Amino acid sequence: MASDAAESPALFTISHIATALITYCVFTTVYYLVTAPRPPTSIPWVGYGKGWIAGLRNFIAVKEAKDWVAEGYDKYNRQGNAFVTPQTLGMLPEVILPPNQLRWMFDQPDNVMSTSEGHYEFLHGDYSFVDPIVLQDPYHEHVIHKHLVRNLTAIIPGLAEEVPRAVAAVYGTDTKEWKKLELLQSFMDTIPTLTNRMLLGEPICHERKYLDAVLAFTLDVIRNLSVLFLVPRALHAFVGPVLSLAPKYHYWISSKFTVPVIKKRISDITKKDAGDPEYKDWQEPCDFITWSYRTAQSEGRHDEMRPERIAKRILPLNFASIHTTAMTANDALGMILSAGPEVIEGLREEAHRVRKEEGAWTKQTLSRMVRMDSAIRESQRMAPIALTFAGRKVVSKQGVTTPDGVHIGYGNLVSCPWGPMAADTEYHENPDVYDAFRFSRAQEEYETMSPDEKANCDVLKMKQKGMVTTATYHLPFSHGKHACPGRFFVSHELKIFFAEFLLNYDIKPLAEPPKKMWMIRSVVPLPTTIEVRRRESPWTPESRT
Ligand code: HEM
Repeated sequence: MASDAAESPALFTISHIATALITYCVFTTVYYLVTAPRPPTSIPWVGYGKGWIAGLRNFIAVKEAKDWVAEGYDKYNRQGNAFVTPQTLGMLPEVILPPNQLRWMFDQPDNVMSTSEGHYEFLHGDYSFVDPIVLQDPYHEHVIHKHLVRNLTAIIPGLAEEVPRAVAAVYGTDTKEWKKLELLQSFMDTIPTLTNRMLLGEPICHERKYLDAVLAFTLDVIRNLSVLFLVPRALHAFVGPVLSLAPKYHYWISSKFTVPVIKKRISDITKKDAGDPEYKDWQEPCDFITWSYRTAQSEGRHDEMRPERIAKRILPLNFASIHTTAMTANDALGMILSAGPEVIEGLREEAHRVRKEEGAWTKQTLSRMVRMDSAIRESQRMAPIALTFAGRKVVSKQGVTTPDGVHIGYGNLVSCPWGPMAADTEYHENPDVYDAFRFSRAQEEYETMSPDEKANCDVLKMKQKGMVTTATYHLPFSHGKHACPGRFFVSHELKIFFAEFLLNYDIKPLAEPPKKMWMIRSVVPLPTTIEVRRRESPWTPESRT
C-alpha cells in the first residue's frame, strides 16, 4: 500500500516557507507604508526631498543629519517655522519645532503628545527591556520623580564614600608611573558602581558580576536599537525576539543578585508594618527598592509590588543613567583638560577651598562649587549628546495643531532642535568658544559686591544658570514635567567625582577636546587617551606649580 506522504504533497518545503516569508514581508511592508504616520507636507523638509527616489536617498544618508538639522534650523526654525527631517534607516522622520513653539510643546498633556510613547518607539520597547510592560507603563520613572530629589541629602554620604574608592580603583594609586586610560571607558568602569550605590546600596553596587550584567544590558539595548534601525519594520517581528535574548539573559543574571535582596526587603517591611518587636528600630534603607515598594503599596499597585517587577525596573534606570552620565563626564572632563591650566587650577582651588571650609562633601559644599557646575553645564552646551531632544509622539487620534496652524497627524514624532540652539548667538555670546566659567562668573562677582550693589542685582536670573536648571533654550536634561529627574543626582555625582580626581591626580593636558562623529541624529564618541598619575598628597594652593 502506498504511504499517505507519497500521495499528498509536502506542506513545509523550502519553497513554501520562502514564499510564505516573502508574502508576509510584502504584506507587512505595504501595511506599514499605508498606516505609517505621515509628517505634514505643508511644511518644508530637509534632506533630498519628498518623492520616492529622494526617500531612498534620505533612507541611506546616515552621515547627513547634522547638516540637515543645522540647515533646517537656519532656514526655517529661526523664522519661527517647523520643518521635517526625513526617515533615515529605522530612525523615523521628526517634526522639528522652532524655539518659539517649545513652551507650547512642553505644555501639551501626555494624552496629546507622549514622552513615554516616544521612548517606546525609539528604544523598541517590544524587544529591548525584557518585558514590554516596563516601557509601556514606566512606573520606575514615576518612582524616581517622586523620591530621588527629596532623598539626595541621604544619598550624598554614600556617594562621598564611594567616589574616592571608584576613582582610585580605575585611575590607580601609583605615585611614580603615569597611567594611560581611555577617558570614556574610565567612566564606563566607574559610573555603574555609583549609579547602583544610589539605586540599591551596598553590597550589590560592588558585585562585579552584577555590574557587568547591567552594563552588558545597556549595551544590548543600544546594539538592538542600532540593528533594528537597519532592519525593515516588516522583519522586526522575527529579528526582535532573537535580539531580545541578550537583554533577557543579562536581566536573568542581574536578577540573581537583585531578587533575593528585594524579597528580603519586602519581608522586612512587612514585619515592620505588622509591628514585629524585632523590627522596632529597623530603618528602611533609602533606595529604589524601598521607594518602589512603598509607592506601589500606597497607590494600590499590587503588580508593582512583585519582586520580579521591581527587579525588571532596575534595568531601564541603569540604562537611563550609565551612558548619559558617562558621555557627559567624558565631554566635561575632556574639555576641562584641554582648556589650559587656568581652568584646571580654578577648579582645584574651588574644590579644595569649599571642601576645607565645609569639612565634607555635603549638599551645601556641592552647591558652592559654582565653577565646577558651570564647567559641566558649558560642556553639555558645547557637546550635545543628541541633535534633537525631548522627542514626543503625537498620540491624540485627531493629531495636534501647532500655534501657527500646522496640523501634525497621529503617530508622528515631534522634537526640539537642541544641537543648533546650543550653538546659537541668540542664546550665548561667542557660542563656539568653550568658556568653562561662563555661567559662574556673575555669581562669583556677586559674592564680592557691596550690599547696595547686591540689591541692584538680578539674583533670580543669576541662579537660573545652574547645571540642573532647564529652560526651553537649555535642554541637555530636557524641560518641563518630563525633564530628567536624575539630573540633581548627576550634578552631585560629577562634582564629587571631578573634585576627587583633580585634587588627587596630576593629569597631562589634552591637546583638544574629545572628538565625536554623528550617526543619523545620535552622537558616537571617538576614543580619547588621558595620562594620569596619583599625587603624593592632595592638591593645595601651596602645591601649585
Ligand atoms: C548626565 C546624565 C544624564 C543625562 C544627560 C540625562 C538626560 C535625560 C533626558 C534628556 C531626558 C528626557 C528624555 C526625553 O525627553 O526624551 C531624561 C529622562 C529621564 N532620566 Fe535622565 N539623564 C541623565 C542621567 C539620569 C540618571 C542618573 C537618572 C537616574 C535614575 C535618570 C533618570 C531619568 C528618567 C527616569 C527619565 C524619564 C523622565 C520622564 O520621562 O518623565 N537620568 N534624561
